[in-house]
Amino acid sequence: MNQDIVILAAGKGSRMKSAFSKVLHKIAGEAMVCRVLKTASALSGANLHLVVGHQGEQVAAACQDFSANVVWQNDPQGTGDALRRVAPSLQSTGATLTLYGDVPLIRQATLEKMMALSTPNTLVLLTISLVNPTGYGRIVRNAQGQVEAIVEQKDATPEQLAIQEVNTGILLAPNEHLQGWLASLTNDNAQGEYYLTDIIAMAAQAGVEIVTVQPESEAEVAGVNDRVQLAALERELQTQQAITLMQNGATLLDPARIDVRGELTTGQDVVIDVNCIFEGKVVLGDGVQIGANCHLKDCTVGDNTIIKSNSLIDDSRVGESCDIGPFARLRPGTELANKAKIGNFVETKKAIIGEGSKVNHLSYIGDTEMGAHVNVGAGTITCNYDGVNKHLTQVADNVFIGSNTSLVAPVQVAEGATIAAGSTITKAVGEKKLAFARAHQANKDNWPRPTKK
Ligand code: UD1
Ligand code: CA
Repeated sequence: MNQDIVILAAGKGSRMKSAFSKVLHKIAGEAMVCRVLKTASALSGANLHLVVGHQGEQVAAACQDFSANVVWQNDPQGTGDALRRVAPSLQSTGATLTLYGDVPLIRQATLEKMMALSTPNTLVLLTISLVNPTGYGRIVRNAQGQVEAIVEQKDATPEQLAIQEVNTGILLAPNEHLQGWLASLTNDNAQGEYYLTDIIAMAAQAGVEIVTVQPESEAEVAGVNDRVQLAALERELQTQQAITLMQNGATLLDPARIDVRGELTTGQDVVIDVNCIFEGKVVLGDGVQIGANCHLKDCTVGDNTIIKSNSLIDDSRVGESCDIGPFARLRPGTELANKAKIGNFVETKKAIIGEGSKVNHLSYIGDTEMGAHVNVGAGTITCNYDGVNKHLTQVADNVFIGSNTSLVAPVQVAEGATIAAGSTITKAVGEKKLAFARAHQANKDNWPRPTKK
């Protein structure tokens, strides 16, 4: 069935006290409006319309991946006015679902439940009963319990204000009727706005069946008006994500202290200590252990690898049974083969490190291709940058690099070579050679120490 979906995102959101449109503020690393678009686009037959106004250019740009039909509402005059502007783009059959760019946690399953009830002669409302219904439109039902109208807070009588069942704002209306209803809206009410909710009374009068669906939780339909509410929904979503990870077989030492801003996939028996952040797409194999305060972004980590506390990994691939950290920093383009070791205060970038190779202490390895079973001594640096261009360092299998070596790229070290500690290597080192590139030590006899004058 044709499924038009309108996402309202024209509002200013003054209570955010922000230079940016409210709907661009992020929940779990993703702009709220994008999260809603993602949920909407997963629905079958989805035909997306995005209503923008305040900072519309920025909102439309942030959403461009979803190829929604962007409709402008420069002088917002209410939710009904927003829908009226979309009306010319709606299909003649099917139904229109209205969603909100600032209600980010709405679930696909709930919307599917609504869609399953939709017919050309049915209007589906998502309602919820609240202990404190203040501010919301109230669901007015007749003696038979059928929905007759929605009355906004500011237009409600004292009796209507006592109604606890409220309009979440999310509704699904049949297109055959919707065009006519929208054309009949007036702004004759307390706010001088065109209320989309006025179509409910029109539907009731036209004999269209009005059915209601409830969300799983209040958070699902909660709107964000200020940063306190934004933070509350962030926590809500993080809690849900943590529960899913645990249900999938990961141990979280404290499920309240993990932040996933993207997609985290975990194998069996993954253990994650506190205060870790996962961003973008992260895949952890079976038995991976992650220490406290690690930050992993867009990376894959092979089975049984241990990442010790305070390590950062960005856009990298880590093999199986590796040992990383504490305090390691793997920058984009790092590829560790199985059993590699990257120790404390080691930075890598565009570095391929072969199986079982070890860079254990205080090093920078950048623009490097390193073979297997190489031992890199403490304080070794690849001098990859000449001030203009970056150059490659190539180290073959079984090389031993003494501590405090500078490898001035471009340079090659062949298989089995040994480099003496403290060397500055500027020329290729051949197979199994010992390279010794530091000043010879001179020991002078009976050296008189300087004395104080
Ligand atoms: C609306 C509903 C109310 C419901 C409540 C749920 C109407 C008339 N009322 O009230 O029944 O209980 O939501 O939160 O629909 N927007 C536009 N263009 C506009 C007006 C609004 O894009 O012209 C967007 C806003 O940016 C916001 C959303 O629509 O994201 C809701 O608008 P708002 O004015 O906050 O509606 P409420 O008064 O809360
Ligand atoms: Ca309003």
